[in-house]
Amino acid sequence: MDVQTGFIVLFCLMSFTCAEPVKFRDCGSATGKVAIVDISPCAVQPCQLKKGESYSVNVTFTSDVKSSTSTALVHGIIAGIPVPYPIPNEDGCKSGITCPIQPQQTYHYLNALPVKTEYPAIKLVVQWELKDETKKDLFCILFPVQIVS
Ligand SMILES: *[C@@H]1O[C@H](CO)[C@@H](O)[C@H](O)[C@H]1NC(C)=O
Repeated sequence: MDVQTGFIVLFCLMSFTCAEPVKFRDCGSATGKVAIVDISPCAVQPCQLKKGESYSVNVTFTSDVKSSTSTALVHGIIAGIPVPYPIPNEDGCKSGITCPIQPQQTYHYLNALPVKTEYPAIKLVVQWELKDETKKDLFCILFPVQIVS
C-alpha cells in the first residue's frame, strides 16, 4: 500500500461520508467511457454492504453520443449467473443526468444501491449498465461487493 492509499483508507475508516473510488472493470462500454466509480460509504474493498441499508453510487462518465434517454440495468452476478438486481429508479435522466445526453460531455450518474434484508450474506459482482436510446451501453461496469449482516 502506498502512502496515498494509506491516507485514503485512514480517512475512510474515520468518515462515514467518504467516497473512495471503487476498483471496477469495464464490461463493454460502447458509447461512453467511465472515469470514476464511487460507492458511499465503502471503506474497504470489496465494499461491505450491510443488509437493510442503502448505498449511493456515483459513476462519472463521458458520452460519445447524443441520446434523449438513458436506462439503467443492474444485475448481481452470483456464481457466474446474472440475477436482476432491482434499483429504485432505472431512468438515468432522473438520476443526476440532464437529458438529452450530449456527445463529449461528462456526467455524474447518481443512484442508490439498496440492500434488502432478505439477501444472503455472500460475495457477488454487481454489473451496472446504462443504456442509450439505441440500447447500446453508455457504460457497463463490474465491481465486487460483499453483503454482510
Ligand atoms: C460524483 O463524483 C465526482 C467525481 O469524483 C464528483 O466530482 C462529484 O461531486 C460526485 N457527485 C456527488 C453528488 O457526490
